[in-house]
Amino acid sequence: MSSDQLGFDGKVVIITGAGGGLGRQHALLMASRGALVVINDLGGAIDGSGSDKGAAEKVVDEIKAAGGEAVADTNSVATPEGGKAIVQTALDAFGKVDVVINNAGILRDKAFHNMEPDLINSVLDVHLKGAFHVTQPAWVVMREQGYGRIISTSSAAGIFGNFGQANYGAAKMGLVGFTRVLAVEGAKYNIKANAIAPLALTRMTETLMGALGEKLDPALVSPLVAFLAHEDCPVSGEVFSVGGGRVAQVIIAETQGYHKASLSMEDVRDNWDTITDTTGFAVPKNLAEETAMFMSAFA
Ligand code: NAI
Repeated sequence: MSSDQLGFDGKVVIITGAGGGLGRQHALLMASRGALVVINDLGGAIDGSGSDKGAAEKVVDEIKAAGGEAVADTNSVATPEGGKAIVQTALDAFGKVDVVINNAGILRDKAFHNMEPDLINSVLDVHLKGAFHVTQPAWVVMREQGYGRIISTSSAAGIFGNFGQANYGAAKMGLVGFTRVLAVEGAKYNIKANAIAPLALTRMTETLMGALGEKLDPALVSPLVAFLAHEDCPVSGEVFSVGGGRVAQVIIAETQGYHKASLSMEDVRDNWDTITDTTGFAVPKNLAEETAMFMSAFA
C-alpha cells in the first residue's frame, strides 16, 4: 500500500449479505486495505428462501488467499438473536467492532394491490429491521469505545419511487430515517452513519439492466462505501447515489414555503406555486435545523 492510500489498520468490519454481489466487493476491498472482516451471509435465494452456508465461507477463503483476514458468519439479520450473534462473531474473532455495513437484502416485488402481508414482513425484516438487529448490539460497543462507522444500503427505488416495490421502497427509505437519527445520536461518540443508494449488476438486478449492466461492475460501488467506513469519513447522516464509477449526494431539501397566520384551504390552493417553488431551497441536516428554518417564517 502506498503512503497516500487509505488503510483500515486492523479495524473490525461487519458486512451483512457479503457472500456475493455488492457485499463481497466491499469485503474484498476493505480486507485488501487491512480491515478484519466478518463476512455474514445466510446464502439464500434472491427472495430470501433457503440457505447455503458455503457462500460466506467462499468469500472468507478468497480474502485469506489474498493475504487478508476474515471470518464467516451464517446467521440471519432478520431476527434480534441473529443480529446479536453476528456482532458476537466479530467480538469472538477480533475483540471489537468498528464498522457495520448493512447490506443484506432480498426482493419480493408485487404491485401494491397484490402485496400479501408475508411479502411486506419478510422484506421489512431483512432490510429495515435487519439493520436494527445488527447495528444495535454493535452500537453498544461503539459508544463505549468512542468510535464507529455505519453504512446502510438504501435504494433509489425507495428514495425516488418504483413500481412494484412498496415493501422494498418503504424499507429502503426507512433506512434513510434510521441513518439520520443515528447520525444525531452518534455525533458525540464519533459514530458516523451514512447510507448509499447503489446501482450495480448483481444477481438481484441481472434481469433488469440490459446493456447498461456492463458498465455497472459492483466493485465500483465499494470505494465510496469503504471511504464512508474510514476514520477520515467527513460526513454523517447523508445519502449517496453510487454506481458505475459515479458518486453523487442525494439531498433532502425543503422549499422556502408560504406562511400566513390565518391559513385557509383556499390560501393553500392560491399559493401552490409559492409552496412548491424550489428557488432558494434549504437542505436541513437534522430536525433542529429544519425547525430553525420553520420558525424563521414567524419572525
Ligand atoms: P445480492 O442478492 O447479491 O446480495 C444480497 C445478499 O444478502 C445475498 O448474498 C443474500 O444471501 C444475503 N441475505 C439475504 N437475506 C439475508 C439475511 N436474512 N441474513 C443475511 N444475509 C442475507 O444482491 P446485491 O445487489 O448485492 O444487494 C446488496 C444490497 O444492495 C441489498 O440491500 C440491495 O437491496 C441493495 N441494492 C442493490 C442494487 C443493485 O443495483 N444491485 C440497487 C439498490 C439497492
